[in-house]
Amino acid sequence: MEENTSKKGFVYLVGAGTGDPELLTLKALKAIEEADVVLYDKLVGNEIVNFIEIKGKKLIYAGKDSCERGEVRQAEINRLMKKYAGEGKTVVRLKGGDPYVFGRGCIEAEYLKNEGIPFEVIPGVSSINAVPTSAGIPLTHPDLSSIILVVTGREDVKRWSKAFLEGTIVILMGRDRIEEICRNLIAEGRDPDTSVAVIVDGTLNSQQTIIGTLSTIAEKVKKRNIKGPTLIVVGDVVGFGKNLGIDFE
Ligand SMILES: C[S@@+](CC[C@H](N)C(=O)[O-])C[C@H]1O[C@@H](n2cnc3c(N)ncnc32)[C@H](O)[C@@H]1O
Repeated sequence: MEENTSKKGFVYLVGAGTGDPELLTLKALKAIEEADVVLYDKLVGNEIVNFIEIKGKKLIYAGKDSCERGEVRQAEINRLMKKYAGEGKTVVRLKGGDPYVFGRGCIEAEYLKNEGIPFEVIPGVSSINAVPTSAGIPLTHPDLSSIILVVTGREDVKRWSKAFLEGTIVILMGRDRIEEICRNLIAEGRDPDTSVAVIVDGTLNSQQTIIGTLSTIAEKVKKRNIKGPTLIVVGDVVGFGKNLGIDFE
């Protein structure tokens, strides 16, 4: 990792992992130690935020409020990165999971490049794999699945469900559309008895896993008042945890 030994400002675009502080990489930790200012997102774990606070860094919440438009927030984040880097500070822009997975990390990198601000992107542990693994679900298995589709619940379900009827599907940001997603997958030909896991607060102490099938999971999820970040896994791999004696419910 390049160290910012010059007086020029520098930005690290850093993936903070899925919330468990022990899933922060050493490289991320090193960048945080070096930082003057940390701009962090909503899904950065509380323990990580507390740690940064104790270290005495200037800490700025950069997550989106529910009523705020994404572009407005992004413009403000860009402004802050430019301002502090312009003052010769080392800035850590800390994002949940990996900075390039379903976030605006790539947009921020382009912005920094266009503005001539020196930066480095530090990969993070993504929820895509860390959350299922933490819940006892392997995304691939020699006998069950050797292909993975990763999508968000915001997409037109028909677009991707048509393209993928076998193997493992990982769905981020799909909690509020789970009923529609399952209905469409069944309509497109996926077996209604296909296993589904809904993992909430993956890798945290509060982690919960709800197990069902394409025809039952939406109802089960509705009955639980789920609040935290949620990742959905569809496919035969979901049943694997039982082989390890993992009790999901
Ligand atoms: C905007 S995306 C960002 C993904 C992130 N860049 C990554 O690599 O994990 C946010 C979504 O990731 C998933 N997610 C992130 N952290 C999670 C966690 N600890 N448990 C379950 N899902 C999580 C949820 O689907 C959440 O809505």
